[in-house]
Amino acid sequence: MQVPLMDLKAEYRELRDEILTAVDQALTSMQLFLGPNVQALEAEWAELCGVKHAIGVGSGTDALIMALKVLGVGPGDEVITTSWTFIATIEAIVHVGAKPVLVDIAPATFCLDPQLIEAAITPQTRAIIPIHVFGHPADMDSINQIAQQHNLYVIEDACQAHGASYHGKPVGSLGHCGTFSFYMSKNLGGYGEGGMVTTDDDHLAEQVRRLRNHGQTAKYQHKIVGYNSRLDEIQAAVLRVKLPRLGWGNQRRRELAALYDELLADCPVTTPTEASGVHHVYHLYTIRTDRRDELAAHLEQQAISFARHYQAPCHTEAACRPWGLNEVDLPQARQAAAEVIQLPLHPYLSEEQIRYVATAVTEFFD
Ligand SMILES: Cc1ncc(COP(=O)(O)O)c(C=O)c1O
Repeated sequence: MQVPLMDLKAEYRELRDEILTAVDQALTSMQLFLGPNVQALEAEWAELCGVKHAIGVGSGTDALIMALKVLGVGPGDEVITTSWTFIATIEAIVHVGAKPVLVDIAPATFCLDPQLIEAAITPQTRAIIPIHVFGHPADMDSINQIAQQHNLYVIEDACQAHGASYHGKPVGSLGHCGTFSFYMSKNLGGYGEGGMVTTDDDHLAEQVRRLRNHGQTAKYQHKIVGYNSRLDEIQAAVLRVKLPRLGWGNQRRRELAALYDELLADCPVTTPTEASGVHHVYHLYTIRTDRRDELAAHLEQQAISFARHYQAPCHTEAACRPWGLNEVDLPQARQAAAEVIQLPLHPYLSEEQIRYVATAVTEFFD
């Protein structure tokens, strides 16, 4: 039996007719510039996140850049985040001219460890970016409390956590701004690039709307220098077909994750944690073992796909050298990088496939 890490083709087979109709309608109308699908998706996304505003942009990376920009973060400022993320979080900080300051992760959740934040705060610190890694929300109460005490902005990187919540509140509503990616492999993904900024703040929302569209206030009136970073209408049409299935997909991921947890309970691996009050959406199902690479080779032999996110925490990448980040020691991130492996998990997997994978893992340790 072959078990893929994810199966976007299965989803397309199921939704093909609806998607092609939606794309055809968009193309027939030729309203492709911030058109009706973008506007409707923004309203639907704002409702899902429980915020006043959602603004469609070109990617998750752009969402982070624009959130930082509208909060006034720039040269001379420092932004605290973790190294345990996709490099885009760090790129965004660098692209606005600020300095990334990386702290370690809480080993159970892989999210920013709030206990390490205060030691990293300097007079230059302006913002904190917690990442809801693998679909598990960061400890936002602790992070927001520290941010309030030190007058810092909080930008959620929710690019891996569509539909997750923290003590009943959706991610994207827990900081000054939330940022999402609609890259195809996400829990809600399009067939190209796309992203969203969420906020309750009218002024910030208006600024993002301008920034994404060359700084325009009205046609050919440019009060600020902006970007060409609009969510495109075709992606919005696709995403609107998929959005009503997000809750089902997340629930299915949770059920399959619970089945893995049960089947691997006696195995010498660490299965994912769900912190109290948190609704995890299992973008990835991540286990830990000090025999990770041997296990990977065994899974490969059984035709089971896997991933190793992140084999190299961002601060060890050559791209981070100019900011001195290579010298930072983050022992939890370092250890996690040597131990993590993701098992296949997506809404279209059968229980039989999950059992097959769990048996292969168990057999390896036997
Ligand atoms: C945590 C995180 N932040 C930011 C991004 C960037 O999103 P995009 O690829 O849409 O630019 C990603 C995407 O993989 C991500 O996983």
